[in-house]
Amino acid sequence: MSILERRGLIEPREIGADHPRRDGAAKVRGLAPYAAEHRPEHPAYAHLVQSTVARGRVTSIDTAAAAGVPGVLAILTHENTERLSSDEDKVLWVLQSSDVSFRGEIVAVVVADTSRAAREAAARIELTYDARPPDVVMDESRSDVYRPEQVNPFYETDRVQGDPDALLASAPHTLDATYRTPLQQHCALEPHTAVAHWDQQTERLTVHNSTQWPFGERQALSGLFGLDEDRITIVTPFIGGGFGSKGLNAHLAVACLAARAVPGRSVVLSLTRRSTFELGGHRPASVSRVQLAAEANGRLLAITHDVFAPTARLKEFAEQTAVGTRSMYAADARRTTHRLVGLDLPVGLTMRAPGETPGFFATESALDELAGELGIDPVELRIRNEPDADPETGRPFSSRALVDCLRAGAERFGWYDRDRRPGPHLHGRSYIGSGMASSVYPTYRFPGSEALVEVLAGDRYRVSIGAVDLGTGTWTTLAQIAADALDVPLERVQLQIGDTTLPPATVAGGSSGINSWGTAVLAAADALRDEHGKTPPAGAVGRGGSPPVPDTHAMFAYGAHFVEVGVDRYTGEVRVTEMHGTFAAGRIVNPRTARSQFIGGMTMGLSMALHEGAIVDPRTGQIINRDLAGYHVATHADVPDIDVAWVSEEDPLVNPMGTKGIGEIGIVGVAAAVANAVCHATGIRIRDLPISPDRLIEAGL
Ligand code: MOS
Repeated sequence: MSILERRGLIEPREIGADHPRRDGAAKVRGLAPYAAEHRPEHPAYAHLVQSTVARGRVTSIDTAAAAGVPGVLAILTHENTERLSSDEDKVLWVLQSSDVSFRGEIVAVVVADTSRAAREAAARIELTYDARPPDVVMDESRSDVYRPEQVNPFYETDRVQGDPDALLASAPHTLDATYRTPLQQHCALEPHTAVAHWDQQTERLTVHNSTQWPFGERQALSGLFGLDEDRITIVTPFIGGGFGSKGLNAHLAVACLAARAVPGRSVVLSLTRRSTFELGGHRPASVSRVQLAAEANGRLLAITHDVFAPTARLKEFAEQTAVGTRSMYAADARRTTHRLVGLDLPVGLTMRAPGETPGFFATESALDELAGELGIDPVELRIRNEPDADPETGRPFSSRALVDCLRAGAERFGWYDRDRRPGPHLHGRSYIGSGMASSVYPTYRFPGSEALVEVLAGDRYRVSIGAVDLGTGTWTTLAQIAADALDVPLERVQLQIGDTTLPPATVAGGSSGINSWGTAVLAAADALRDEHGKTPPAGAVGRGGSPPVPDTHAMFAYGAHFVEVGVDRYTGEVRVTEMHGTFAAGRIVNPRTARSQFIGGMTMGLSMALHEGAIVDPRTGQIINRDLAGYHVATHADVPDIDVAWVSEEDPLVNPMGTKGIGEIGIVGVAAAVANAVCHATGIRIRDLPISPDRLIEAGL
């Protein structure tokens, strides 16, 4: 029973109801303005010039021809751009130096009356470089491999418990395998866009920006420009997807610099699709060496997960790839480590379940390999290694329904009704097989969100919080929480989000949004009720916040993935023919939007397994496949009818709603489940993503 119910004040009525998206009609009619559709009064358009070398220095810039293009208002380069006050975030410290640290770095921007003029002038800027050979190839044996201070967002770099090496040396059964994931791109449908306006009279900066974290950006801009935060407004009513790529990107700083160069005009800066591949962040490639030691009955004695990854030289990004392995399964000894090497690459960024997603491709593939060696069913192997408490911290789990997910998922998928003998299994021209994997994602709730509830005439309520809707359904689900918190039907609640003039809200990231913002909304409703009783008068207000979470419990969402594949015996093409996921992610606020999140995560996992991988040219440092033709993301034709279910889970410890966040749990185990299914189908183990036809054929299909 959740706190919501235990208070005895209200029965959940709207939470859990299958409401359609409140913004749905506006979206399909084109009436929901995304950043690029914001129509300012006096627009100007910016176009970027990006470096054509990956390492070196700009030695000269000739802007004469560009300045002659009719309509050009300003050309900014490192030579004439105002000095920013802070270089704390090197991504935002744009146009400040002649140094170039990756191919595609911003070296100039043109602002013009029209987008066409800006683009044409940008093409006429002549740059010369002192270029050095790019260093973009990662290799674990390099001498400059280093140990980062910590890994994202705040985890210890290395953890060792017991003596895993001794157990690996003496155990009856061991596995030692290395798994690789390539550089991956977010590919949100809406390219990053900022529309910036600098009002010289009032000294106010306003940015309509597609961002997951308006308040974080406001703070960063305050530091960059030496402006008080209350002089800066970020507006983000709608976002066309982000997956972790939207927030604190370089183009934001450029748009603001450009706006200050042409005061009174609003500068529209939309990244081209190609630029999003260089300036929108990416998931860095990863190498995971996993070693397992086990008894014959499958009980794990030791787990090690040693990670090696590249990072940009410009700014470190240390993905927490082995962190998920710390808390997942019981074992007597364990080691998890992270090492990096700095390369001349664009800067990496969080991408849907950063850490767990690449890490679990390794861990969950390795478990499947071990299961095969021991002749133990892979579902059963996981169940046998269920820990009593968090192996990392010793804390009890606030709730942990992994085993329920495994059992319910296996049942629903018909796991035990299928041919479970090891492959290959050839039927006609296809190898057919099935595979499974577990999923986990931490339940974050960040402190610092605040909400305001106002009573309007006619027993209606306005609920304000500067949260954003990534496209996940926040406009609807947060209003559902507010409705129950106020004990009124959904239609009496007006929600205001997407603007930093509203009460502050934490990031739409880490699957933490509803957990954090919902807690603040609930607290504001409580405050209103405490002061004004059950029928507050019009004009009454309540305020509340989301306090820090006590660290008494380990909190995670779980899932189990089941996949069937068909592999063409001649072409090596893999088709996912069935896909099921059962999740335990706390209380589900809206089954319709939740299903959509799970399906989205699973689709992205399928895409990662079979299609995605950016290719960096070692000679030039250029990401070669930097468009949606060359970088294939799964489309409808690649994706089967995905089946999703969830187990009912009550967890009042995570937050008053009992929610765990659902944006990321859907992707985590998918790539391993697909690889495991491919192995079951063909007998071939692919440890290097994506599972492309050439890899299967090379491996002897
Ligand atoms: Mo996410 S990668 O927390 O948007």
